[in-house]
Formats: sequence, C-alpha cells, structure tokens
Amino acid sequence: MTQQFPANFIWGSATSAYQVEGAWNQDGKGPSIWDVFCLIPGKVQSGDTGEIACDHYHRISADVALMKTMGLKAYRFSIAWARILPAGRGVVNVQGINFYNKLIDELLAAGIEPWVTLYHWDLPAALEFEIDGWLGNEIATVFAEYAEVCFTHFGNRVKNWITINEAWVVAILGYGHGVFAPGKKSNDLPYLAAHNLLLAHAQAVNVYRTKFQKQQKGFIGITNNCDWREPLTDSVADKEAAQRALEFFLAWFADPVYKGDYPAVMKERLGNRLPTFTQEQKMLLKGSSDFFGLNHYTTMYASDATNNKELESVYGNGGLSEDQDVNLSVDGAWKLTAMQWAIVPWGCKKLLQWIEERYDNPNIFITENGGAFDDKLIDGQVNDVDRIDFFKGYITAIGEAIDAGVNVKGYFIWSLLDNFEWASGYSKKFGIHAVEKDSMNRIAKASALWYRDVITNNAV
Ligand code: GAL
Repeated sequence: MTQQFPANFIWGSATSAYQVEGAWNQDGKGPSIWDVFCLIPGKVQSGDTGEIACDHYHRISADVALMKTMGLKAYRFSIAWARILPAGRGVVNVQGINFYNKLIDELLAAGIEPWVTLYHWDLPAALEFEIDGWLGNEIATVFAEYAEVCFTHFGNRVKNWITINEAWVVAILGYGHGVFAPGKKSNDLPYLAAHNLLLAHAQAVNVYRTKFQKQQKGFIGITNNCDWREPLTDSVADKEAAQRALEFFLAWFADPVYKGDYPAVMKERLGNRLPTFTQEQKMLLKGSSDFFGLNHYTTMYASDATNNKELESVYGNGGLSEDQDVNLSVDGAWKLTAMQWAIVPWGCKKLLQWIEERYDNPNIFITENGGAFDDKLIDGQVNDVDRIDFFKGYITAIGEAIDAGVNVKGYFIWSLLDNFEWASGYSKKFGIHAVEKDSMNRIAKASALWYRDVITNNAV
C-alpha cells in the first residue's frame, strides 16, 4: 500500500560541520574541542579524525549538484563556530563567512532550502580552556553573541534555524560517560551542561526574535534526540518506568522549552543535583521553539529497576540510568544496524504520538533518521538494500503517524554522505552515498535513487 505524504512536505538530508567539512585548520578556522579530542590516543576508533572527513569544504559545488540530482528540497548542515569565530568570540573570520555564503547561495540557486544548525558539538577549543565550555556561567551569552553573528550575515537567506543539536548527547556522552568531547566523566555534570545548553538556546532565540525575526521572517527551534521506550511488560511498574525513561530523555529538554521547567519526576528524583531556572529564565524558555525538531534512531524496552538493577545503560556505567531506575533491553528478534541499534519503525510512530500528546500537537520536523550498514559492492556499485528497507519502514511509520493526526512537516535523512561518525571514526557507514576515505569518490547508491523516487512521488 502506498503511503502518501501531505503537499509541501519537506524532504531533506542532514550533515554536520565536523563530520563532513574537513579543512580543519584552513582559511583562518580555529580548533574545536573535537579537533583536540581526536588527538587523544584511544578516544576515536582507529585514531580517525575529521581533519579531511568528506572534504565537503572544498567540494561544495559538486556536493550541491549531487543534492540537486537527488531531488532534495532541503539540506540541513551546521556551522562550525570556530570557522566564524576562531577564538569562540571576538574577531570574525571573513573567510569562514565567505564559505557559508557560498554554500547558502549555491543551495538556493539549486532550489534547495538551507536548514542551519548553530551548534552540532564542535565548541571552539578556546571556550573550553577559557570559560569551562558548557559548564561555565558565561557560555549562554557567548553562544547568543555567536548566533547573532550568524543571523546578521546569513539570516537574509536562511529561514530555518536550529540552535542546538541533541543537547542530551552533549550532556550525557560529553559530560557523563566521557566518550565524546570534552570527555568528562561525572554523575552530576550532565545536569549542569544541559542546563547551560538550554539557557544558551533560549538566549539565542531571544536575540533572533527581538532583533531579526520580524524582518527576516524565518523560524527558529531546537532539535532533541529521543529513542522510544516500550514497557517490557503490562505491569504498572514497567509502564511507569517507560514513561520515566522518556521524561529523563526527551522531556528533560522539551519540557523547559514547551512548559518552562523540568519534568516533576526529574525534580523529585534529583533534588539539588538538578539546577533550577529563575522566573525570568523560565519565561525566556517557555515557547522558545517555533517547531519541534526530533532526531530519532531506535527503540528499547524499559522495565522498572527500583529493586532489580540488571542493566546500567546502553552507554555504560554511571549517571543517568541509576537516576531513573530503569533497565533497558532489546528484543532478540529485532534486526540491528551496524551501530547495533534495533530497527523498530513502530517505535517511531509511538514516539511521535507521545510528543503530539505531551506538547499539544506541535509542528514536528524529523531532523535526523537513518541507519548504518556495511556496504556491499556489486559491479562497483554499493547495493544497500538494508538501508532501503530501513527507510521504507520508518518513512511508512511516519506517514501513518501523520494519518493519525500528528503534525510531521518534514524529514531529513541522516546522512547525505558517509562521514566521520564521532567516536566510531569512519568504521560505520551511515550515508546514502559512500565516501571512500582516501579516494574521496562519491559512489551513487541504490538508496539515494530510491529516496529520489520517494521525493518525486511524495509517497513511499
Ligand atoms: C546523531 C548525531 C549525528 C550522527 C547520528 C548517527 O546523534 O546528531 O551527528 O552522528 O547521530 O550516529
């Protein structure tokens, strides 16, 4: 059965600066915490770095042509903060501005809408040294100043802004488990980093709304990530555990943005380990997103762990899972991607309905969804049937959610190119085009052609 999508549905693809640009120290760019993190032995698989990545920086015209061939309506990319402000604040690097101007102009000339993320994890290293990065008091204001530089230079053409990508990952993986930059391990720091990320988002939105939005007529929001949590059994305790897991995951960030404060369950369980917002900050946060940005990849079962802690968490020891008292598991029958993430399209539909209900039916953009799979070469072409199955399943589930009344307005495939997958380096293939790290060949894949048909027919 064909699943038709609403007219004007936005079909796109997404990347982030550090994962694709390369040119890490060229044309005046300053170092970011990921540039530094990659140099520390043992942090990234095979010692890989984003120094060259997909060389997107030098291949903008060719890559935009590729996007046009694929029929993309929108391209989501992030700005490397340290390319614009090499020291994180102060002097603007004109060559960095020129690069993004070129990218934006070429996209518009190709009929592709730019969707710009201001922060996709590559904090200027200077800010980590000087003001303690996301733990410092000044960071929200410094972020808002950087955002203002971007609105000033690009806002006449960019109409869709995303302040922060996946604050949960920054907080938990960067400050809890320490597997992402800046590599800190703590049970408490994630809550402080998250707090400052939310305040930074709110301040940047305030700058946009008070100084730019009226004349530039764009939209601004935040993108959060969340998996679905399905109760393992029908017991009340497991149902509550699943709900609690979703609140500690998504509502941690979305409640402040939609309701002005953290979820009650987090306040109760964390006490003074959870920072508090002032009245003024609550007002700045509440209603600070013009749309609900969602990155979604997988699903796990949740069960109550109050008297029975079996699993710590998929991400390792410490922090979050103890605070929630939730055990997580997967069904052995579920297929897995190369990241070992379970492929469960119905979980996506349920999550969308959960968001619809909790946040009063907002306009949702799925700003990332996709799967990593090992490439199989057939006649020199990558034949990625697994990836097509993945997308078919998830896009169909999203269509069903729309039919059931959820306001999903757009969908961005992760990712345009196989790229630098953070701590996994280049070992995981995520793109709908393959990039050979050495030859930098972009090989057309079956899934890219398949996605082009979806876009053309507005149906899957
Ligand atoms: C997201 C992230 C992306 C990409 C993707 C696949 O969490 O925003 O940068 O890495 O996961 O792992």
